[in-house]
Amino acid sequence: MADPTHSSSPIFKLLLLLIIPVIYSTYVYQTDNYNAGPLPEDHSFETSISVPEWHDRILAKAQRIGEGLLHGPEDLAYDPKSRFLYTGCLDGWIRRVDLAGDGEFKVENWVQTGEHGRPLGVVLGLDGSLIIADAYEGLLKVSPDKEVEVLVDEAKGVKFGITDGVDVASDGTIYFTDASYKYRLDNHMLDILEARPHGRLMSFDPSSNETIVLLGDLYFANGVAVSPDQKSLIYCETVLRRCRRYYIQGENKGINESFIDNLPGYPDNIRYDGEGHYWIGLSAGRTMLWDIFFKYPILRRILYVVDKFVTVPKSMKNSGVLGVSLDGQPVALYSDPNLILATSGLKIGNYLYYGSLYKSYISRIDLTQTKIPEK
Ligand SMILES: *[C@@H]1O[C@H](CO)[C@@H](O)[C@H](O)[C@H]1NC(C)=O
Ligand SMILES: *[C@@H]1O[C@H](CO)[C@@H](O)[C@H](O)[C@H]1NC(C)=O
Repeated sequence: MADPTHSSSPIFKLLLLLIIPVIYSTYVYQTDNYNAGPLPEDHSFETSISVPEWHDRILAKAQRIGEGLLHGPEDLAYDPKSRFLYTGCLDGWIRRVDLAGDGEFKVENWVQTGEHGRPLGVVLGLDGSLIIADAYEGLLKVSPDKEVEVLVDEAKGVKFGITDGVDVASDGTIYFTDASYKYRLDNHMLDILEARPHGRLMSFDPSSNETIVLLGDLYFANGVAVSPDQKSLIYCETVLRRCRRYYIQGENKGINESFIDNLPGYPDNIRYDGEGHYWIGLSAGRTMLWDIFFKYPILRRILYVVDKFVTVPKSMKNSGVLGVSLDGQPVALYSDPNLILATSGLKIGNYLYYGSLYKSYISRIDLTQTKIPEK
């Protein structure tokens, strides 16, 4: 029998291949400043909440819209008057899809947010404008005649790193998030893996141009949705797999409380559908591997270093869209093992539209036809 420690043994080579990066990483992470942290002590790794209705093979029923013309349509906004569906794309363009044209879906290049823009959150303003959380440019307003204006790109002297989610209340106040002041969108995974609270929830008052930091220390602050009674808003923290409520009016103003915890995936945008449900894009499903990484900061530090040499594949599968009642009860989940980075969900009529960080199209599923065979 061959000596397994002999250098020509395939087992030895394999061991070497695995051990060298680990030893090297351990050495480097101690000298490197990548200080991945533990999740808060009260963060739960228990079984995720159970969803009464789970459609877990939605790709078979999904229809693609604007394929090849809509790269990375991250968030969606619908204008019921003009019947245009707006989305922000990877190349900085806001594009709109005509939903009136009976299944034809004409796609129009509408406006580019800036030379280096990357529009994420999009929402209709009260005056026919579009309000945009642009990852690189800040909080923007685009007038109906396509004039782009930067509303704000810093607060309390700290520049936004990844302006991300946005919604507008009926009094015109704009609520928005900066996912991280530390990192930019092109390396946002570093912020997620570092798992330290670099995010902020803010408001912008268009009548005074005043920006207020409502909450700091958020773990990758992402989507925002104002509640239909205008008393509170729901904001999502991707890293902690949860969305919380923050009161914007009334006697509880300024208070934050839990809304939905222990989601089956990592939340991105959230939108209210006008019919009693919020829809939360789950950009990636929860997996055992992600749990292990989030439990042990040292593994994330090692991953950080190893990733500099070889790109470690990070599972983004089992993405989906979760419908939640006004009081934070899960109602229905539409997901698929092969769905990757679905970032938003918007219900229009009987259809659930969803965006994506990387795909070249918007998708939709007909909710009246979701009798999808379960496995
Ligand atoms: C807010 O900013 C806009 C654009 O810079 C400006 O035209 C407007 O006068 C400002 N409003 C107030 C109240 O300062
Ligand atoms: C939420 O409110 C609690 C007090 O109830 C406070 O301790 C905490 O800092 C608040 N969360 C954030 C993110 O500010």
